[in-house]
Amino acid sequence: MKIHRIRVPSATGKYEVVCGSGVLRGAAREIARLGKFSSVHVVSSPKAWRAVGKLVPRRFGLLGAAAVHLFHDAESGKTLASVEQIARSLVRAGADRRALVVAVGGGMVGDVAGFAAASYLRGIALVHVPTTLLAQVDSAIGGKTGVNLPEGKNLVGAFYSPSLVLSDFLMLRSLPDREFRGGLAEVIKYGVIADKQLFAYLEAGMEKILRRDAGALEYLIPRCAEIKARVVGADEHESGQRETLNFGHTFGHALESVTNYRVYQHGEAVAWGMMAAALLGYVAGITPEADAARILALTRRLGALPPWPKVAPAKLIAAMRADKKARAGKIRFVLSPRIGQARSYDGISAEILQRVLQLGPALLAHLGAASAL
Ligand SMILES: NC(=O)c1ccc[n+]([C@@H]2O[C@H](COP(=O)([O-])OP(=O)(O)OC[C@H]3O[C@@H](n4cnc5c(N)ncnc54)[C@H](O)[C@@H]3O)[C@@H](O)[C@H]2O)c1
Ligand SMILES: [Zn+2]
Repeated sequence: MKIHRIRVPSATGKYEVVCGSGVLRGAAREIARLGKFSSVHVVSSPKAWRAVGKLVPRRFGLLGAAAVHLFHDAESGKTLASVEQIARSLVRAGADRRALVVAVGGGMVGDVAGFAAASYLRGIALVHVPTTLLAQVDSAIGGKTGVNLPEGKNLVGAFYSPSLVLSDFLMLRSLPDREFRGGLAEVIKYGVIADKQLFAYLEAGMEKILRRDAGALEYLIPRCAEIKARVVGADEHESGQRETLNFGHTFGHALESVTNYRVYQHGEAVAWGMMAAALLGYVAGITPEADAARILALTRRLGALPPWPKVAPAKLIAAMRADKKARAGKIRFVLSPRIGQARSYDGISAEILQRVLQLGPALLAHLGAASAL
């Protein structure tokens, strides 16, 4: 078994992402290296725990059996009420300041359990065990935690670094296909923003990757984790470089928001968003035609997406302006001047944006198909 160790620099102390097939078997040893804990508390959801609980050790070294705390990880469960439920359950289980939370689940569990760990007794140690492709390549790395309010997503939270991330590829075996493809959209994103070789690898092997070929995961997951670690290490609080991780997300979040988060899996919205960003980059004279066409063609190979919503461009633009990443009402777009590079632009004219949104779906289909010739 090959184990990859990726260091993530962070203001609150560096930590490692340890990934590989079967790494969870060594969890007790990895956790023992972090120091002494008074007790271990697994936080997961009924669904994730049913799928992967059998792969997670119950005893961590000399400590007694871990207590298991479950909460519902539907988007509707990403609330302060869930944080309260977890915290009260930790109190009842006797968790003190030296207790450890092990978050086992997708991004949802990681965000909520991470925020619970950040705030319980003003912060106890946290280990992420991400169980979705998205969580392994993205959400478990970088220290963002938080919950939604009725007024909007991720409005309450904290930057709180884990002490360790354990990414076991075996966890992904039970992942539904739609979740896996959604995670792959973020993998394509890493290729576009930071790694042209990764992008070419995806072009050469998408079918194999969609079959979850072990060798392909062995290459892709550590590579994406490295990119995320490098980007957040250089810019933990999202001033410049970290923004590039939002490639495809300005459009993607708007699509999710105008459809009330009911139509798209996040990665599906990002897939549309990346195609729209490629098109916008092309129309704005930033992304060369050949690069835009490659981004479109690769993204389309993820499979059919729920259709672009039948809403007026103005409604999508309003949703983009309301996004918390817009500054002073100015919409910022991450665009790619060539595959493997990206930066943020806030000078895109309203007219160009309007044009892309108007022609968007039809033109995307055309450009995507043209590149496949
Ligand atoms: N903190 C960050 O930096 C960051 C980054 C991106 C996304 N996020 C957040 O992550 C969340 C989405 O995360 P996600 O895409 O991992 O989805 P998710 O956590 O909602 O999980 C998707 C579904 O898969 C189930 N599941 C999880 N692991 C499984 C497995 N191994 N086998 C079978 N089923 C499994 C879950 O129970 C859930 O029903 C959103 O709330 C988003 O805001 C956070
Ligand atoms: Zn995303």
